[in-house]
Amino acid sequence: MAYITRRAAMAVAGAAIMTLGFSGAASAQQEIKLGYALANTSHYGVAANKWEEVVEAEAGDRYSFTHFPSSGLGGEREVIEGLQLGTIEATIVSSGTLSNFVPETGVFDIPFLFRDLDHARTVLDGPIGQDILAKFSDAGLVALAWGEQGFRHITNNRNEIGGPDDVAGLKLRTMENPIHITAFETLGAAPTPMAWPEVIGALQQGTIDGQENPLSVITSAKLSEVQKYLTVSGHVYSPAMLLVSQQLWDGMSPEDQELFRKATSEAVTAMRGFVDEVETSGIAQLKEEGMEVGELTVEQKAAFQEALGGAYETYYETYSKDLIDRIIATK
Ligand code: PAF
Repeated sequence: MAYITRRAAMAVAGAAIMTLGFSGAASAQQEIKLGYALANTSHYGVAANKWEEVVEAEAGDRYSFTHFPSSGLGGEREVIEGLQLGTIEATIVSSGTLSNFVPETGVFDIPFLFRDLDHARTVLDGPIGQDILAKFSDAGLVALAWGEQGFRHITNNRNEIGGPDDVAGLKLRTMENPIHITAFETLGAAPTPMAWPEVIGALQQGTIDGQENPLSVITSAKLSEVQKYLTVSGHVYSPAMLLVSQQLWDGMSPEDQELFRKATSEAVTAMRGFVDEVETSGIAQLKEEGMEVGELTVEQKAAFQEALGGAYETYYETYSKDLIDRIIATK
């Protein structure tokens, strides 16, 4: 396995663009540049390592993985565009910008849609989730599997949060995701969509008060160093996705395509195992690191849900009430 830093990554990406015209040339070994936003020790790294391990065990050195952790190839939107161009072969991303490529994906970003991790996993692995994966071919992408990050919680430097009034005017970084932006606007916050690589700097400089992410991200990105309050709000489930470029896929034999499906399925199992672990241990760790942690009570969560009523009207129009009800009713 090879790791590449951000500066070297830009050189690699540039070289890849320059040599695009020759990429069809016969090559014994196919390089897989695999980009993801977090450290190799995070849930993304665990999935990336398993993906590589399973492919290598069966395909030997036919494929050579180069990992670009910690946004080494840029923000998630840039990386997905790189897949479309064929300059990057593979990625693991959040649903941050996915609905800008396949709008149907956004239905899973609706706040308070899923009861718990099992509910989300059942829907994503079932017909509703698999139908959405299939739609990625229209965007020139091959979506192999749903992964996950866990439930998102709010961190900030301004105040403790116990109810919707406490987020009024809060400059909260959101993903570049219209569903999340609508939700926080409805709550009266000041959502500030921003690509992940800019977030830590913006928190340090105080241009934003806070951000929201699952415990898997808050711990692995060491947000306790730049954020004082953690509100365990679980306001939305955060899916992830494992994708490859159409160009890579079309150049593979059916046997190797099957191997990549198997490898990404095992990668998701490893990723979910990591998330289960951090959902149990993450809060204690963040308290030890000095964060002031407040867990929303059932009543406080209900107040947030009620305040989001207006946003739900928009979601019903965008995704159909029937689909949203079917997701909620899935056992
Ligand atoms: O907040 C985000 O943008 C995502 O959750 C992150 C941290 C890039 C992981 O995919």
